[in-house]
Amino acid sequence: MKMKSLKEVDPDIYELILQEKKRETSKILMIASENYASKAIMEAQGSLFTNKYAEGYPGRRYYGGCEYADEVERLAQERAKKLFNVEHVNVQPHSGTQANMAVYFAMLQPGDTIMGMSLPHGGHLSHGSPVNFTGKLYKTVFYGVNKETGYIDMEEVRRLAHEHKPKIIITGASAYPRIIDFKAFAEIAKEVGAYLMADIAHIAGLIATGLHPSPVPYSDFITTTTHKTLRGPRGGIVMCKANYAKAIDKAVFPGIQGGPLVHVIAAKAVAFQEALSEDFKEYQQRVIKNAKTLAEALKKKGFKLVSDGTDNHLMLVDLTNFNITGKEAEEALDKAGITVNKNTIPFDTKPPTVTSGIRIGTPSVTTRGMGEQEMEEIAEIIERVIKNISNESVIKDMKKKVQSLCKRFPIY
Ligand SMILES: Cc1ncc(COP(=O)(O)O)c(C=O)c1O
Repeated sequence: MKMKSLKEVDPDIYELILQEKKRETSKILMIASENYASKAIMEAQGSLFTNKYAEGYPGRRYYGGCEYADEVERLAQERAKKLFNVEHVNVQPHSGTQANMAVYFAMLQPGDTIMGMSLPHGGHLSHGSPVNFTGKLYKTVFYGVNKETGYIDMEEVRRLAHEHKPKIIITGASAYPRIIDFKAFAEIAKEVGAYLMADIAHIAGLIATGLHPSPVPYSDFITTTTHKTLRGPRGGIVMCKANYAKAIDKAVFPGIQGGPLVHVIAAKAVAFQEALSEDFKEYQQRVIKNAKTLAEALKKKGFKLVSDGTDNHLMLVDLTNFNITGKEAEEALDKAGITVNKNTIPFDTKPPTVTSGIRIGTPSVTTRGMGEQEMEEIAEIIERVIKNISNESVIKDMKKKVQSLCKRFPIY
């Protein structure tokens, strides 16, 4: 049977892909958890490995015909181990949440106590939120940031750990702009006999290139997504010391997943290869430089940043002094062609559907090749939009500026 193209089989989906391409190329994408994967990664992800069932692990599969799938998975494992300098990796989790789930299912019983960063202070749903399985299965304790400084309050972490004796302490965040002191977390975990899990989903690219201290020497488990600063396909991985390898592998399969997505594992392998290059280190350096430049430019224009700046790829803008909500800012900026997300700020009085802040990240714009001069321009556009939020003609002008910036930095 001769196969037809997508355009012939399903013009609706084909058209939507074209529209998405237009959106991704003609807007300035500043969602801190997103990036542009390379064509090579998308080619691997779109490959015919999508057809293959490969339950099990390389050399120990429950299906025949896995000789090439085995090689793909072995390459992904070897490259991830080299990239992060870890003893063991499982590259099968379908997402970051499933990577975290694998650790919990391997080490905890329902009813055990887990301690993570509070969601409104920058943590992730899968670190114990009541609306997530973690909040339903486990007793949860949350630490947060200091109200004055915006930095993680390590004294509070220690106090809560001693008071509640969690079985696992989770460090890592979705909206925290500062360096995380993994060593300090490890000391506290040791004091109370807890496992330490570092969820490095956001900062994996910075860690892989040595631009953020690595949690590897200090943590029992390290989980990450592969699609944020790491710039790979959507997915997750779990890393651990060799003594936990069996438990983690069993938790991923057959514990929480069936067959692995071999096409995605192939794309992860390509992403790890890209991340091992010198170019990738330079890219991550520019991501941080761009974030710092944008943060400073916004501050000069009167914007308040949580913790007063950034050490990594993102910043959290507190909009309370402009008397507008995160939701309003997100909508107005998107109209002008800058896509960000509304985000709660620590001690926010507004619900997560409204919020008092926005989160801005530089991974995607840096992939396009934008640099410090463009960050100054973007700060200017953000200022004009926020200060003229109901002025359609200003927003139209800003949209033109965004479009001309995008034309200067083509992608795909
Ligand atoms: C810190 C952290 N962990 C885990 C995840 C979950 O990743 P996924 O959306 O792939 O489940 C995210 C996603 O935003 C995250 O920021």
